[in-house]
Amino acid sequence: MQDTFVPRKDRYQKMLYRRSGNSGIKMPAISLGLWHNFGNVDDFQNARAILQDAFNLGITHFDLANNYGPPYGSAEENFGKILQRDLKTYRDELIISTKAGYHMWDGPYGEWGSRKYLIASLDQSLKRMSLEYVDIFYSHRPDQDTPLEETMGALDHLVKQGKALYAGISNYNPEQTQKAARILKELGTPCLIHQPKYSLFERTPEKGLLDVLKHEEIGCIVFSPLAQGLLTNRYLKGIPADSRAAKTTALFLNPHHITPEVLKKIRRLNKIANKREQSLAQMAIAWLLRDERVTSVLIGASSREQLKDNVGAIYNIKFSDKELLDIEKIVI
Ligand SMILES: NC(=O)c1ccc[n+]([C@@H]2O[C@H](COP(=O)([O-])OP(=O)(O)OC[C@H]3O[C@@H](n4cnc5c(N)ncnc54)[C@H](OP(=O)(O)O)[C@@H]3O)[C@@H](O)[C@H]2O)c1
Repeated sequence: MQDTFVPRKDRYQKMLYRRSGNSGIKMPAISLGLWHNFGNVDDFQNARAILQDAFNLGITHFDLANNYGPPYGSAEENFGKILQRDLKTYRDELIISTKAGYHMWDGPYGEWGSRKYLIASLDQSLKRMSLEYVDIFYSHRPDQDTPLEETMGALDHLVKQGKALYAGISNYNPEQTQKAARILKELGTPCLIHQPKYSLFERTPEKGLLDVLKHEEIGCIVFSPLAQGLLTNRYLKGIPADSRAAKTTALFLNPHHITPEVLKKIRRLNKIANKREQSLAQMAIAWLLRDERVTSVLIGASSREQLKDNVGAIYNIKFSDKELLDIEKIVI
């Protein structure tokens, strides 16, 4: 890590950039998410080194949410500190996103999709990151109890106020996406991007969502592409003490997910990856990027080594029909 950060001059030469839908924005094929590893429970210097490396590798997009940490809000605060120290001069080279939708504060206005919650939440996020605007503001999840017109109206309002440059949605199903896209278009704030969960182990977006996004000309940035670390060599020899599955702060992956059947699949996938001269993480990312409807793959990383490994995926995103078939036989 550099104490006075001077980014590499060649940082834009290797990364691939893909246009998000029919917008003017190009996203890096690999983006970095700050859900884990950037909270107050994590090592600040490690977080800072990962962000410096990411920028040096051509990653221009950093993804946050109001509640990332733990505790809630601390990933935004830490990101704000690192931005001030290392990347302030490069603000116009960055796409910074945040979201609101999940539980953030007590009472009836601290989650879901009301105008009240979304507007207050973005104001709080901007303060935590010391930013005047974010590039993308997302509705983090659909809300059955709030009219979609209200939720989309709040995104449109924030864009028109200049607090966000673009609007995005996350975790919306194909029908909700179509409806949201229509409302946003009518308001004059087209939806820039959708953020669904998609990986070799999570195939739901193939059941309609990717087609809707292509038809509506909306970008797609996929989260948990490594199934939170399962689609890597992390668990091949047991559960390391410093891994996400072993940490009590990570509520979404635990040792119960690492079953003998899952391990068998990971080992078999790892063999195919080795034949392709890739790590399993690289193959899992490349498999997503082979589909041009995927604008960006949103990874997490707990170390500089993992980040570097993952970015290496872009050097081989082509698959033979046989490889695709062999992979399919393992994961389906
Ligand atoms: N919109 C939403 O609802 C939503 C939900 C979830 C996530 N997201 C976004 O998506 C981002 C990524 O999600 P994610 O962190 O679950 O993604 P992921 O890339 O599937 O998992 C990242 C984790 O896998 C392990 N890992 C990564 N690269 C590795 C490598 N090369 N070798 C071995 N292990 C490796 C690390 O875990 P260890 O700690 O074990 O090292 C790392 O923290 C989040 O930060 C967030 O921005 C959005």
